[in-house]
Amino acid sequence: MNDFQPLLDAARLAREQAYAPYSRFAVGAALRTKSGRIFTGCNVENLSFGLTICAERSAVFSAVAAGERDFTALAVVADSRQPVTPCGACRQVLAEFAPALPVCSANLQGAVFESSIAELLPRPKEGILGT
Ligand code: THU
Repeated sequence: MNDFQPLLDAARLAREQAYAPYSRFAVGAALRTKSGRIFTGCNVENLSFGLTICAERSAVFSAVAAGERDFTALAVVADSRQPVTPCGACRQVLAEFAPALPVCSANLQGAVFESSIAELLPRPKEGILGT
């Protein structure tokens, strides 16, 4: 059993730091590492829209920069009608380190959707570098 509650709490707090003046859609993410640490991220948008970084990738890069690459669970929180799962780019980045990562998505009303990177992104390495 995965204890997602502390991760969901951390993701909800991280969401409050989101910089999302263009979409007005704030997202928070929290990633647990094997060592038990939690790394958080929020989306950071840019006037040049394509430069926007999602909450999930922000959390991954923060963990990797701190020397942590073994991820055991991810939580994502947004103010959406349905809980949101990581976008395709984030799925690919998460699969680099944790292809079977459990993912818990929630909205602010408490609706929860549990999935995994394996389910969200099957065969993540196909076609890449001839693999
Ligand atoms: N976004 C995330 O940060 N994570 C998701 O899982 C969904 C999308 C951000 C990107 C952009 O800043 C805004 O939400 C709207 O797509």
